[in-house]
Amino acid sequence: MSNVVVIGTGYVGLTTGACLAHLGHHVTCADIDSTKISRLSEGRIPIVESGLENLVREGLRTGRLHFVVNASQALLRSDFTFLCLPTPERHDGSADLSYLQTALETVRDDLRFESIVINKSTVPVGTVRFVERVLARPDVGVVSNPEFLREGSAVHDFLHPDRVVIGAVDQAVATRVASLYSTLTTRVITTDPESAELIKYASNAFLATKLSFVNQIAALAEAVSANVDDVIAGMGSDKRIGESFLRPGPGWGGSCFPKDTKSLISIGSTSGIDMSLIRSVVEANEERLEQVVDRIEHLSGSSLKGKKICLWGLTFKANTDDLRESPALKIATKLISRGAQLSAYDPTVHDTLSSFPLMFIFGSPLDAAEGASCVVVLTEWDEFKWIDPVLVAARVDSRTVLDARGILNRSEWQDNGFTVSGIVC
Ligand code: UDX
Repeated sequence: MSNVVVIGTGYVGLTTGACLAHLGHHVTCADIDSTKISRLSEGRIPIVESGLENLVREGLRTGRLHFVVNASQALLRSDFTFLCLPTPERHDGSADLSYLQTALETVRDDLRFESIVINKSTVPVGTVRFVERVLARPDVGVVSNPEFLREGSAVHDFLHPDRVVIGAVDQAVATRVASLYSTLTTRVITTDPESAELIKYASNAFLATKLSFVNQIAALAEAVSANVDDVIAGMGSDKRIGESFLRPGPGWGGSCFPKDTKSLISIGSTSGIDMSLIRSVVEANEERLEQVVDRIEHLSGSSLKGKKICLWGLTFKANTDDLRESPALKIATKLISRGAQLSAYDPTVHDTLSSFPLMFIFGSPLDAAEGASCVVVLTEWDEFKWIDPVLVAARVDSRTVLDARGILNRSEWQDNGFTVSGIVC
């Protein structure tokens, strides 16, 4: 088993560190946020991520997982150093590598002789070469090993991957990195760094394409009175298409897809390739948000001015507390600009959000629905499926529901006098 340092304890770094410790490696996770590090050292994790807290506690108990602010000592004996740092989007859509650069300058002189630096963050094609230049340590191997972790099931995805991708110039270095994952039964794809970096972007852009496609087909199905679920089941049964990632929704969001699609467009433009398909995918997603808002306006009697709209779900998807690039919040912004008054419930949001001072957050979906002229399901939290429409009927002003995630039992709600609408209709 190996000595590993993980730089950055966001959801990728923390999941990587805790899972590698679970696999038997000795792992030190480092972060510049000292408050976060002291909480993690007590086994308290700052995010909602299924199974992660248990793994962190297991690592602390077995002594295989440590949290530090300064990784210098750990780096001196580390075989592998993972970079799991944010790469935010710049104004032009390109990725900002300044966090990466600063971290590299900090660790450069402490890296063990002939150790390996592994980049897990999603970074532009060519970043392995950038890392090599900044490090200026010819004895140190630099590798791309992209993550494919979904928030909410990151631990499961790490321990049961569809594939592990390793991009290295030197095959011997790739083999050493593959040894980290030798206890997992999965396909290991070794390639050059540029291909590994592009695999990550291509995968996310393809998934985003699938979603924009299915959202557009769902809109068409609603418009022509076809059954959306049957259309998707019929399409998805074709093995070449596949059933997964075909759930229509109010648009895709989160910390990866919006950033990665724009970054891919930017990489294309600097490489002289017009990524016109991906641009359309991004545009279709913007249109989807607009469709939801138009529909809510229509359901509210043509104007949203002064109307109370209740939002169920604010996170970008269920089983996470992540609000980054959430379609629900983008829809909330548009509703407010059209004059709506918003109340909201989300199981992970307990206080008023600073960017939405006038959106009232309630502690239960029923309280949020009080006096609403339309209830909108924006995140597919399981608990919304079990809400009794009779109780909602007693609280709302108008029995109107827009189910943007298609999770409610339509006939049960209709039986209780509700108009249940999809996004188009
Ligand atoms: C994604 C990728 O799946 C993961 O491999 C990558 O490394 C990081 O980005 P994540 O952002 O956690 O993961 O969320 P994901 O589950 O992929 O969902 C992305 C968005 O698509 C969400 O807004 C979600 O609600 C939406 N979605 C997903 C749908 O609308 N329908 C679906 O069928 C699936």
